[in-house]
Amino acid sequence: MSMKNIVQTIGLFVLLFAMQIMYAENPRAIKLETPKRPAGQTDVLKLACDPIPTVRVAFIGLGNRGSGAVYRFMSLEGVEVKALCDVVPEKVERAQNTLKKNKHQPADIYTNKNDWKKVCERDDIDLVYICTPWLAHTPMAVYAMKQGKHVAVEVPAAMSVSECWDLVNTAEQTRRHCMMLENCCYDFFEMATLNMAQQGKFGDIVHGEGAYIHDLRSSNFDKDAYYNMWRLDYNAKHTGNLYPTHGLGPICQIMNIHRGDKMNYLVSVSSDQKGMTQYAENKFGKDSKQAKGNYARGDMNTTIIRTEKGKTIMVQHDVTSPRPYSRLHTVSGTKGYCQKYPMEGLAFDPDAHGFLNDEQRKQVLAEYEHPITKEVGEKARKVGGHGGMDFIMDYRLIYCLRNGLPLDQDVYDAAEWSCLTELTELSVKNGSIPVEIPDFTRGAWNKLQGLTFAE
Ligand SMILES: NC(=O)c1ccc[n+]([C@@H]2O[C@H](COP(=O)([O-])OP(=O)(O)OC[C@H]3O[C@@H](n4cnc5c(N)ncnc54)[C@H](O)[C@@H]3O)[C@@H](O)[C@H]2O)c1
Repeated sequence: MSMKNIVQTIGLFVLLFAMQIMYAENPRAIKLETPKRPAGQTDVLKLACDPIPTVRVAFIGLGNRGSGAVYRFMSLEGVEVKALCDVVPEKVERAQNTLKKNKHQPADIYTNKNDWKKVCERDDIDLVYICTPWLAHTPMAVYAMKQGKHVAVEVPAAMSVSECWDLVNTAEQTRRHCMMLENCCYDFFEMATLNMAQQGKFGDIVHGEGAYIHDLRSSNFDKDAYYNMWRLDYNAKHTGNLYPTHGLGPICQIMNIHRGDKMNYLVSVSSDQKGMTQYAENKFGKDSKQAKGNYARGDMNTTIIRTEKGKTIMVQHDVTSPRPYSRLHTVSGTKGYCQKYPMEGLAFDPDAHGFLNDEQRKQVLAEYEHPITKEVGEKARKVGGHGGMDFIMDYRLIYCLRNGLPLDQDVYDAAEWSCLTELTELSVKNGSIPVEIPDFTRGAWNKLQGLTFAE
């Protein structure tokens, strides 16, 4: 080959490479590989399993959250608590007392570090309910499914994209339910606005916002608040949005994510870290080890997502600023608008410059109350758990299992909402570059049209 030909060939390759970059949808985006679905494995969209008239439950992790779950289960019909597992014996004891007070049979108790495996291996358990620290969620959920159990797992269900795939692959292989316990989807306002969205009250939805803004400084630095201070530890080591699902879940349901639309990519930006250090200086002194600690997480993280159907979502996370609690829950469409924080507000065309007044808002919320909160809301408010939404979530989980129905939230929801933990960190650490969000359904995101609640 002559020198001229060699130069021409190299030139052609360079041109082709440049064109590929120019025409790629997102030339600068980071894209993680989607693992091939193993032969014979199919999706679990609308998975329905045999009805379980009495759901036999094992709880793993009985701290703040797990103890509340056991209490709520005392008000559910058709459940038997068979096993209580926590590495702190007093926490198991406390949960056992809850059973006793409510005249339930005592459960078998487990207190060793690896006892959770024994719990999952039992052949008289249908559902494993996991409320442990974040990094234990996926290993426990995967193991439980492999032992043939359905799984309910606290938020986030997974802390990395690879863990998300582990959940999806295991659910698809074992054909077991894996529901993340995203309770905020069951709050009264979120459910009413979901109903409004599904009935077209907001018109074409173009934008949504969710958040987890919750001042957790005192809990994070309190050695008795979380087991082994797991939350502080994770906050010190990671940045991005560590806890995206409360804000994102209800918005994804409204936007039909993997039920007609999908999240394509995100960009994520974090502020500097100030809150942890300043709080530690004030509480423990400037020279304390807490004040001198390294805290990776920027105080405020803001992430923007674009969906396949051209919608945008903003998600925020801040757990170290002195400001009121907020999950935002904002929905904006061509005909109307809603927000839950700082105060519930609704506005509709042609008068959307101002909010509906109190009376009008209450009237619209009553008109669009979701059938599920109508059915069980009164009882839920009595039992409690974040104003009742926790009970509605448990009620729906058990109702669907008892009747052999698909669950309201599936493993793809768990993966999509949880994967932001790693993807936001990746974007932040790379100058807020776009990061593609995997399609965990591997092509089936358009198979279902909208979210339905099985009856
Ligand atoms: N959905 C919500 O509104 C909500 C609210 C609070 C917490 N959470 C989630 O619930 C989970 C638990 O949070 P928490 O506040 O209850 O924390 P926590 O530290 O109070 O509870 C965790 C429990 O897990 C136990 N544990 C640790 N390792 C274990 C093991 N190997 N085997 C058995 N038990 C083990 C600990 O002893 C502890 O009792 C977290 O994922 C958190 O994000 C959700």
